[in-house]
Amino acid sequence: MTVTTQNEKLVTLEEYVIEAQAQFPKATGEMTQLLMDITLGAKIIAREINRSVLKDINSAETITEPHSFKRARLEQFAKEQMYYALNRSNEVCLMITDDMAEPEMLNEGTGKYIVVLDPLDGTSNIAFNGAVATTFSIYRRKTHPESVIDPTEALRSGNEQVVGGYVLYGSSIMLVFTAEGMGVSFFTLDPAIGEFCLSNENVSVPEFKSNFSINTSFYELWSEVDQGFFDYLTGNDNLAGKAYSLRYGGSVVSDVHRILMEGGLFGYPPNSLNPRGKLHLMYKCNPLAFIMEKAGGVATNGDVRLLDIRPGKIHYQTPVFMGSVKNMQEYSDFRTNFEDKK
Ligand code: F6P
Repeated sequence: MTVTTQNEKLVTLEEYVIEAQAQFPKATGEMTQLLMDITLGAKIIAREINRSVLKDINSAETITEPHSFKRARLEQFAKEQMYYALNRSNEVCLMITDDMAEPEMLNEGTGKYIVVLDPLDGTSNIAFNGAVATTFSIYRRKTHPESVIDPTEALRSGNEQVVGGYVLYGSSIMLVFTAEGMGVSFFTLDPAIGEFCLSNENVSVPEFKSNFSINTSFYELWSEVDQGFFDYLTGNDNLAGKAYSLRYGGSVVSDVHRILMEGGLFGYPPNSLNPRGKLHLMYKCNPLAFIMEKAGGVATNGDVRLLDIRPGKIHYQTPVFMGSVKNMQEYSDFRTNFEDKK
């Protein structure tokens, strides 16, 4: 029988992680199961996003308040699905999501893993069919899995992630993740067979690209150095010798995903409305920073590596700059020269 090349090459997420598990002594079957549970939640969320317009057509609320209603409903749906997904195994002791006041214990606070996630980020994009995403980080708990966890154990630096990833619900549904001892891999959902299939392995971010992704409407509210950097990027006296292109979609995952594939710099500088930054470290920035660094890029808050920050609270917010090595070097050189000239 002749086997087609396409069939020969199909590798499902499950096959991939089981093989990876065999290579890395620290990888466990429970971790594989947990990743599969998260991706099951993501598939259900993806299906709901795809059907959301159809579902909302006949709803009274969408007629009076179309965007906010759809947004709130999908956010709630995504949170519930992830809650069910993480409850499938008995391995998760603690779950933290973006809208929780306090971490929530699962499995009565026992189990080996802590999962921090944003079930649906970028929901303002839902209104016009833009990309949204789920971001997640998995930590191994340090205390005994059979004891009831103290929720403050979740306040760990991103360096301690064992898995970091995201699912991007865009023109196709893509899972991107990395884990201890592994590179960055992309898996695309094949809706016909319901499986995430390997599409890119050991992804590395290009060293440089004359693109930046920053909400420049906050220019007047930025610090002098960030204003100066924007002026520098849009002038001619920079590394590219020409004005950089602005690529900003308003959804951090799709903006960073683009940079992962094409190169460039993503930034969310502090501004006078959000002097400590806007984006949340634990469930948004850490998984993205873990992936960016594993792909050979750099991720900082402007001064220090994001992955080195130990948050004092679960909703810790931070300035963010991440991307290609040379773009990030250019940013840090600009800051140093700016300070020196003062
Ligand atoms: O944190 C939510 C979020 O939608 C991110 O995905 C995105 O990068 C950011 O907010 C956009 O913020 P702004 O609208 O201020 O540019």
